Order: sequence, then structure tokens, then C-alpha cells
Amino acid sequence: MSAKIISGKEIAQQIREELKKEVEEMKASYGITPGLVTILVGENPASVSYVTAKQRTAHELGFYSVQDNQPEDISEEALLELIDKYNKDEKIHGILVQLPLPKHIDESKVIYAIDPNKDVDGFHPVNVGKMVIGEPCFLPCTPHGILEMLIRSGIETSGAEVVVVGRSNIVGKPIANLMLQKREGGNATVTICHTRTKDMAFHTKRADILIVAAGRPKVITADMVKEGVVVIDVGVNRIGKTPEGKAILCGDVDFDAVKEKASAITPVPGGVGPMTITMLMKNTVQAARQTIEKS
Ligand code: GUN
Repeated sequence: MSAKIISGKEIAQQIREELKKEVEEMKASYGITPGLVTILVGENPASVSYVTAKQRTAHELGFYSVQDNQPEDISEEALLELIDKYNKDEKIHGILVQLPLPKHIDESKVIYAIDPNKDVDGFHPVNVGKMVIGEPCFLPCTPHGILEMLIRSGIETSGAEVVVVGRSNIVGKPIANLMLQKREGGNATVTICHTRTKDMAFHTKRADILIVAAGRPKVITADMVKEGVVVIDVGVNRIGKTPEGKAILCGDVDFDAVKEKASAITPVPGGVGPMTITMLMKNTVQAARQTIEKS
């Protein structure tokens, strides 16, 4: 069997078309333009490329968008003050601080400082708590993107054995949580594997849907999956550069070998990445809409 390729790029494009219309309507009916600020501290090449892509998409969708670059040695206090400034800025509906932050800054303090109503990353404990109990909130962008991809690709999750590899707060924990909830794209039986799991292959071989966010290139090989599995590869590993200086990317899954056993698989690049950015845009539109509903 050779797998169907789930193109995150195409699904993301469909959602962006929907969002573009919504933004136009919002501007015409309420005079409100969704506003997003992305704060980048330092010059980590991966972070620079993510933030640039987020800003480009915001611009394409007609948002008011601000990219705020801060030096690597900005103090924690100054960063917290900056966040407070955007919390009070009525033109800004969504605040994203690109992670990771330099070691001298406490990431959790920064996340706590963002107004939960502007937390379009869905990382603030208020939003995390609401997500866990299934209340309306901003869902974290990568897990939200994975759910949308599964739903729009017609993949049945109800009753499926889902195995998640990785337990980060950004991907592993929230996607596991969302997929066990009683909701569309949920109702699965979920297992989480991590670096201390004794026999990873035992679990991955049982998966109907395998979601990999390990952060290490090609850790999932063909002998670790069963025939017909659906594979979602969240990994983005920079394994070299082209002669032109462009990063060469690969996922956490050995794509060429695993696609011969899988029924469907996401590529890297062009899989989860574009969906993450798109869900950030969706959350920002939702944040702007909430200000209309409150007024
Ligand atoms: N770093 C890696 N992924 C993310 C993300 O989804 N949001 C933020 N803010 N930083 C990240």
C-alpha cells in the first residue's frame, strides 16, 4: 500500500480562504480588523522563520499585524512590560511570544502575563484548564491544526487507538487530551509515549492513528507501525542546508519507508506546519470576534 498524502498545505489554504472572507465581513460590518502581534526575542533561525511565516500569513488575510523584534538580552521585566502594553492595546486582539525564550527569562511568567482573552497560542493556564474540561477557549494551534486535518480528511477518530509520541505542553499533552474528549475529532482511546516509555514499538504498532512530536529526526521507522496506520508527523528537524543556504527539513518519521505501510501520512514540510499557522489566524479572528460580542 502507498499512503494517501494528507496535504496540510492544501487544507490550510481552504481554511485561509474562509478566514479571508470572515475578515472582510468583520471589517465591513463592524469596522474591526483582527490585530496580531508576534514578539520575537533574539535571532534563533527556526524562530525567525516561523515568525516570518506567521506575519506573512496575517498580512495576506488582511490583519493588522505587528512584528516586534527584541534583542536576546532583553530583561524579563522589560518583556513583561511589553506584553502589558499589548494587553492594553485595543488594536491588538492576539499576542504571540515565540518560544523558546533565552534562559534568563522564565517562560511560564511570560505566558501568565498574557491576557487570556488575547492568548491566541492557547498556552495560558486559564485556556489550558478550559480546554481540559471542554469549555470554549483558544485551542493550542498545532493540536487544533491536527484535529482539523483529521476531520477534513474524513479520518474516523471515534473508537480509534491513538498513540501520541511526545509529552510537551505545546503538542503531546494537548493533542492527547483533545482526542479523548467527546467531540468531533475525538472519542479515541489514547496512549502517550515519551522518553521513559519502556517499549515504544509495542505501543506504536497498535496505533490506528499515530501522532509523532518527538523532536528527533526519523525516530519512527517502518517496523514500528502497522499496515494501514494514519500518521501525523509534527517534527520539523533541520538536517542540513542546500548550497543556496536554505534549510533541509525532515520529520520525526521515516517518511519514505513508512508511507509504504500507512493508509495516510502527512509530509514534512507541507503537513502540520501550515495548519499550525492557520489555526493561529483562526484564533486571532475568534479573539477579534469576542471583542465585538462584548461591546
Ligand atoms: N515554538 C514552537 N511552537 C510554538 C508555538 O506554537 N507557539 C509559540 N509561541 N512558540 C512556539
